[in-house]
Amino acid sequence: MDPRNHTNEHEKFGAVKKSLADIIAAYQPTGSLNNASTIPAAWYTDERIFRLEQETIFSRSWQVAGRIDQLNQPGDYVTTEIAGEPVLIVRGSDDQLRGFFNVCSHHAAAVMTEAEGCAQNLRCPYHGWTYSLEGELKGTPDFNDVCNFDRSENGLQQIAITRWEKWVFASISGTEPAALADAASQQVFAAELSKQIHDLHLGQLHWFERRRYLLNCNWKVFVDNYLDGGYHVPHLHKGLDSVLDYSEYTIENGEGYCLQSSPVVSSTNQEVATVRRGARALYYWLYPNFMLNYYEGVLDTNLVRPVRVDRTEVIFDFYFADVSETARERNVQSVGLGERIQEEDVAICESVQRGLASRAYQQGRLSVRREAGEHLFHRLLCNDLRAGLAAAGD
Ligand code: FES
Ligand SMILES: [Fe+2]
Repeated sequence: MDPRNHTNEHEKFGAVKKSLADIIAAYQPTGSLNNASTIPAAWYTDERIFRLEQETIFSRSWQVAGRIDQLNQPGDYVTTEIAGEPVLIVRGSDDQLRGFFNVCSHHAAAVMTEAEGCAQNLRCPYHGWTYSLEGELKGTPDFNDVCNFDRSENGLQQIAITRWEKWVFASISGTEPAALADAASQQVFAAELSKQIHDLHLGQLHWFERRRYLLNCNWKVFVDNYLDGGYHVPHLHKGLDSVLDYSEYTIENGEGYCLQSSPVVSSTNQEVATVRRGARALYYWLYPNFMLNYYEGVLDTNLVRPVRVDRTEVIFDFYFADVSETARERNVQSVGLGERIQEEDVAICESVQRGLASRAYQQGRLSVRREAGEHLFHRLLCNDLRAGLAAAGD
């Protein structure tokens, strides 16, 4: 832990640390946007809030685990982490996709260690235990005289997965058959959102490239920045600002999502204008941590992964309608523009995190014109944290 954060935390809350319940109660989720404040600074800096988020929000929601285009053939797999736990998605010999905890039943090592790949079977690198692509334990070297050991009870533990558009989502909320069935019966996103995304025909877009960024800030700082309704765009992203009609920016909150949208206007900045076209730019945020940014023939997604209370990984995937060799240069240019925008966002998010840890700041106010998306985000968080706290107290 950064000793500076520790000092700030200590000084900010005085000798007696506030209880988790007090910190959560400090946010008022009722009331209108024109009266609303942001969530308190401690929600971005307190380890206990981070752990509660992992146990409630991230352990109980559907989380993006991989792209379907990574999992085309039997044996194709991806690994990730959800709420800090290792997860594996694999296509079986029977062509079915399955999700597992990527935790060996012998001594808990990660069975698959690459981010993605194709395997004949799942072999743990530690002592060589081998699992089938369906997660059954098949091989246990030097294990002959062990009593009361049943291989069939020592397979990989399965988790629920589902497909939505171009992605596989996983939920680690339970491994029992009833929990898996329960998760499978839940829809991933609200019907209205699913319809809108369906109408974009994302099947016509093809994955091009992935970029990963590590940010020294809480995951919610990145989401807040995304959801400020273009408030920061003319100040922070001057290149992007020249193709967006900032005054026409719209913000619509739906059930568990927010759509921010801006008409695209012709730009005098040729570099930007050639890679950002179409009538409107659509920015969908899907609670809690997934974003879809759509321009005509161009999509990028942002998956925001909490690493520690003050550290976040954001994974960008870029997709284009045309990924042929002739379109390559334009696609590379488009990814490059995304990268410059991201660098500006990273710097401001890290600046905000330092400010949130300062004794000078407790809570801020929200722009009625711009920040309705943040208001929705904070209320949804508050709901989940209150429910999580109540469940922990049971
Ligand atoms: S931990 Fe996997 S084989 Fe020992
Ligand atoms: Fe930005």
